[in-house]
Amino acid sequence: MRSLSVLLIAALQALVIASPQPLPLSIPLARKSTLKTADGHVDPTSIRAYISIIEAKLQRGAAAFERNTGKTLFSRSLSKRAATSGSDPLVDDKNERWYGTIEVGTPLQTFTIDCDTGSTDFFLPGPSCGDACNGHEVYNPNSSSSAEALGRNFTVEYADGSMATGDLYTDTVSLGGFKATAQTLGVASLYSYELSSDQFGADGLMGMAFESVSEYGANSVFQTLVSQGAVPEPVFALKLASPGPELNVGSVNSALYEGSFAYTPVTQQGYWQVAGDAIGINGTEVVNGFSAIVDTGTTLILGDTSYVSQLYQAINVTGIGGGVYALPCDAMPNVTITLGGKSFELSTETFNFGTYNSSENTCIGGIAGSDGLGDQWILGDVFLRNVYTVFDVGNSRVGFAELA
Ligand SMILES: *[C@@H]1O[C@H](CO)[C@@H](O)[C@H](O)[C@H]1NC(C)=O
Ligand SMILES: *[C@@H]1O[C@H](CO)[C@@H](O)[C@H](O)[C@H]1NC(C)=O
Ligand SMILES: *[C@@H]1O[C@H](CO)[C@@H](O)[C@H](O)[C@H]1NC(C)=O
Ligand SMILES: *[C@@H]1O[C@H](CO)[C@@H](O)[C@H](O)[C@H]1NC(C)=O
Ligand SMILES: *[C@@H]1O[C@H](CO)[C@@H](O)[C@H](O)[C@H]1NC(C)=O
Ligand SMILES: *[C@@H]1O[C@H](CO)[C@@H](O)[C@H](O)[C@H]1NC(C)=O
Repeated sequence: MRSLSVLLIAALQALVIASPQPLPLSIPLARKSTLKTADGHVDPTSIRAYISIIEAKLQRGAAAFERNTGKTLFSRSLSKRAATSGSDPLVDDKNERWYGTIEVGTPLQTFTIDCDTGSTDFFLPGPSCGDACNGHEVYNPNSSSSAEALGRNFTVEYADGSMATGDLYTDTVSLGGFKATAQTLGVASLYSYELSSDQFGADGLMGMAFESVSEYGANSVFQTLVSQGAVPEPVFALKLASPGPELNVGSVNSALYEGSFAYTPVTQQGYWQVAGDAIGINGTEVVNGFSAIVDTGTTLILGDTSYVSQLYQAINVTGIGGGVYALPCDAMPNVTITLGGKSFELSTETFNFGTYNSSENTCIGGIAGSDGLGDQWILGDVFLRNVYTVFDVGNSRVGFAELA
């Protein structure tokens, strides 16, 4: 049984690994809204802070991986109700988070959750959370005949200062109409300000990555569904583009994509970490062969600073510091990312991350450089909004197809 002390030690280790970043503990509740100012402009300082948050999130997961498996995750160390069964309409909260619904307990009670492929654990506000959870739907294990206390507590902390702590339970969970029993979930007794209902629109968070990066040492909700044979196929699929972003559970929705899927194998079951073929810009192939984490919990596309700088150099764009790049709003490049042998173009709207200096018609590019990711790329929403993505647990691969 993992005790608090182990969790605390892990937290301290993460702190040490991530130092000297000021708030180094993170899993995926990145406050993406902080990336844009009230008038819709992008503040490069927020992007730089955000890159640190994502680095810390991945470092924390990597620490959990090492604890759970005894192996190293990365080769270089990291400095609403389903309309039809199996589909869960997602709410696009101003392109910031991906909210869906989940039902928990006996009788079933509905909650909204932030769906995150870049983490594994699931938590909800609990009855002793009080004012800190005002405005959120509260899950009370005492009101559920199928809830069981695990006798362990949990604490999750985030690089932006947000934090949730509470007790671990197991209970019945229904996602997309499919039911899992004895799912491990965190019942929070405290939410920090950043998770308060006016800052965080979902009630809780549901991770969709592998058990090996779980802080709880438990399966994700989806993995539990698969291991209990509760879903028709061991896959889930995501459309993040508007209109109608959607999570499909247990099957793909053939109405949402065209042609066939280009598949790439999962190279390490921790995050959804895959091998990619190439990244090009305006017809120049800059990156040939890369490793990437497919993460709905990351807004941007992130890559190692040296590769990202080469990418922008190919179109004569130099950075404005801290891995952030600005370019003319009316000359957005044609970025292509090749996965499973198929090239996908980033649309101008997804690549253009917003105006930086409106008086100069300057916009921020949706690909940014990071020093803390080793040679990993992070394919976040800037990429995922261009494709329909299937996460295939059964065949340990990720497939990408053109949107219908
Ligand atoms: C739940 O039940 C336990 C054990 O009976 C009790 O100690 C606790 O106060 C209850 N919590 C709530 C929120 O009702
Ligand atoms: C977690 O449990 C330990 C005992 O196992 C206790 O000492 C500690 O105060 C608990 N922490 C929280 C935040 O509830
Ligand atoms: C983008 O680049 C790819 C690869 O060079 C090319 O096939 C495609 O036609 C380009 N798209 C546009 C809109 O220029
Ligand atoms: C980049 O700048 C150099 C030097 O001014 C020029 O020779 C080259 O054609 C430019 N490349 C592109 C893609 O515009
Ligand atoms: C890259 O391609 C875009 C779109 O075709 C174009 O507007 C831009 O000028 C190109 N950049 C360079 C440096 O050639
Ligand atoms: C925007 O451009 C103007 C004109 O060059 C400049 O004075 C201003 O400092 C720039 N603002 C930012 C945020 O870079």
